[in-house]
Amino acid sequence: MERRQFLGYTAAAGAALMLHPFESFAFTGDAKLRLAQVGTGHRGSGFWGRDLLKAFGEKIEFVGLSDINPGRLAYAKSVYEVNCPTFSNFDEMLRQTKPDYVIVTTVDATHDEFIVKALEAGCNVITEKPMTTDEVKCKRILDAEKKTGKKVVVAFNYRHSVHAMQLKELLAADRVGKITSVDFNWYLNVYHGADYFRRWHGRMARSGSLWVHKATHHFDLLNWWLNSEPVEVMAYGKLEHYGKNNAFRGTTCRSCEHKKECKFYWDITKDERLTNLYVKNEQHDGYVRDGCVWSNEIDIYDKMSAQIIYANGVTANYSLTTYSPYEGWQIAFNGMKGRIETWEDIPYLQKMQDDQSKRHAIEMSTADDAIAGEVREIMVMDNFEKNYEIFTTPKIKGGHGGGDIRMQRRMFVDKNDNPHNVMAGTREGAMSILIGIAARKSIKENRPVKISELTDLVPMANRF
Ligand SMILES: NC(=O)c1ccc[n+]([C@@H]2O[C@H](COP(=O)([O-])OP(=O)(O)OC[C@H]3O[C@@H](n4cnc5c(N)ncnc54)[C@H](O)[C@@H]3O)[C@@H](O)[C@H]2O)c1
Repeated sequence: MERRQFLGYTAAAGAALMLHPFESFAFTGDAKLRLAQVGTGHRGSGFWGRDLLKAFGEKIEFVGLSDINPGRLAYAKSVYEVNCPTFSNFDEMLRQTKPDYVIVTTVDATHDEFIVKALEAGCNVITEKPMTTDEVKCKRILDAEKKTGKKVVVAFNYRHSVHAMQLKELLAADRVGKITSVDFNWYLNVYHGADYFRRWHGRMARSGSLWVHKATHHFDLLNWWLNSEPVEVMAYGKLEHYGKNNAFRGTTCRSCEHKKECKFYWDITKDERLTNLYVKNEQHDGYVRDGCVWSNEIDIYDKMSAQIIYANGVTANYSLTTYSPYEGWQIAFNGMKGRIETWEDIPYLQKMQDDQSKRHAIEMSTADDAIAGEVREIMVMDNFEKNYEIFTTPKIKGGHGGGDIRMQRRMFVDKNDNPHNVMAGTREGAMSILIGIAARKSIKENRPVKISELTDLVPMANRF
């Protein structure tokens, strides 16, 4: 076995700069990029608000903030410590503030409305994933971008993690020959996984299900790593743990009479930020953040698996679990000459044990420091060889493996830093959600679904 340490991505990887979706914006002189934001919830007011200003306040300014919940909006403004106007009406914000970029951080099923309106008002857009939740909305976005000539960046932060980038390096270098199949499994633990069932994510009409809300990340990684686009999906899924699958239920954890017997009881009031964001503002819109994971209204799947056929011939096997004792993932790429394997946070494979109840908070933090003595490992095995190589990369403490801060740096500072076309636009946004949308349809109709049934986009064997 031979150990190698990655130092960074290769110079060749940085050459493909032309396709950076941000190229339409010129960072000139001292002028700050004028941003408006819609959706000042957790992700909006944290990563795309307070943290963004803290890290890049020299480059950007907020000219307007908008949300349907006036309490959450006021709270966000106080956290940002800005003077810009706030709006309950998005159209009014666009009219009055005329921003360069609109940041969309609302509930998934509403993204399309704001993306399209912003483009039509002459703004560029940064949208959180998933780009949207169904194929009709997806087409509206693609058409609006084409018509207006403005650009949408889809914030696929995972791509920018140090680990994901190093894996991309090995695949782009054809280290084990042509890849023919992939095994990819993602495990959400009983804390983070359960959290999706406490609020709007548990409703198909709001999140498009975890096939779209969560798996868009994973499908985007697959598409990017393979440098190819999907053509067909066959999927299975069931709701057999959360939702209706329990003898008792309540409305919120706070008000529940089953606190003592429920393993999923969670006291939101112990978290000051979440209390300020949600609990104190329930009276405005009835949005409860600590809803019951056993609610009968939950209509998404909690176990999912799919086979995806790619335009370059690769077959990918994917699964997502939402009630695992630990949070982590593993992937293997089978090539004609060997195999590449890697994983994150599988307890029996790593030296230090994580506190599973803290995993989500770590994931959302923007800490960018490496954990001393801890590395991620990528195993590369050649057929017929006894020895194998282990490539190591630093393990970054928070923020989606360092992806969060690196993505924002590439957006607002190192505009020419686009290794392996890591910056994602609407085509990437579309191709990742279309896998999830096809999976939903496949389950419903019990048949393989072609991507061409959902879009006019013709899947490319080689994206770049
Ligand atoms: N990339 C990542 O790692 C990551 C992580 C977390 C969340 N997200 C994404 O960020 C987005 C927001 O997630 P969140 O966890 O902050 O959710 P949230 O519920 O905390 O926030 C959503 C906000 O949007 C507001 N809103 C809803 N409908 C609206 C409308 N029609 N008009 C104006 N405002 C509206 C709500 O009042 C709320 O303040 C989602 O799309 C989610 O998928 C991405």
